Amino acid sequence: MNGAGGCVGPFAVQLAKASGAHVTGVDHPGKHALLRAAGADDVVDHTREDVTRSGRTFDVVLDIADTRSVLAMRRCLAPGGRYVLVARRIGSFVETALLGPVVGRATGTRMGTFAWRSNDRRDLDELGELLVSGALRPVVDSTWPLARAADAVRHLASGRARGKVVVTP
Ligand SMILES: NC(=O)c1ccc[n+]([C@@H]2O[C@H](COP(=O)([O-])OP(=O)(O)OC[C@H]3O[C@@H](n4cnc5c(N)ncnc54)[C@H](OP(=O)(O)O)[C@@H]3O)[C@@H](O)[C@H]2O)c1
Repeated sequence: MNGAGGCVGPFAVQLAKASGAHVTGVDHPGKHALLRAAGADDVVDHTREDVTRSGRTFDVVLDIADTRSVLAMRRCLAPGGRYVLVARRIGSFVETALLGPVVGRATGTRMGTFAWRSNDRRDLDELGELLVSGALRPVVDSTWPLARAADAVRHLASGRARGKVVVTP
């Protein structure tokens, strides 16, 4: 999971763990404790190590950070592996959607972008069971009263939050 320590990543880490995966979370060191708490088996500091040049390969790469090109990310895919981009930028979305299948075919992998799809009752039932069992928990940074909603948003925008910022009406 590249960019595993943000708002989306800890859910992805927990879901991957619940399905039996060995999870490596890539993010800066300030997020590593959170990643370990979410269940990550290994953590990588992206400020010190370029995971695409480390020689390590992975069966599935979920790229939540969207900081590298599809050509760079192909280097860390194992044969038959799968790369899924959660795109933040229209440019990387288009690049991965167009170039990903070509690079994938050439390298024996599958590379593409996350696409929206409508809710599926079976997926929601599975998520519900994971929530009830405690296997899936939101990582909460802090909780704020509604009167301080502006401060809560400022805190989130500062980049210091570690997990979700909750506003309670
Ligand atoms: N949040 C939501 O509820 C939500 C819902 C649907 C879709 N999305 C989409 O999902 C994507 C991720 O959202 P998010 O809210 O999880 O974002 P986020 O909280 O900003 O998380 C991204 C993480 O990537 C880290 N990062 C930055 N540069 C990196 C690098 N070079 N290598 C590895 N990690 C790096 C960030 O660290 P720093 O904090 O230090 O920058 C941060 O921890 C976005 O495209 C967003 O539009 C989000």
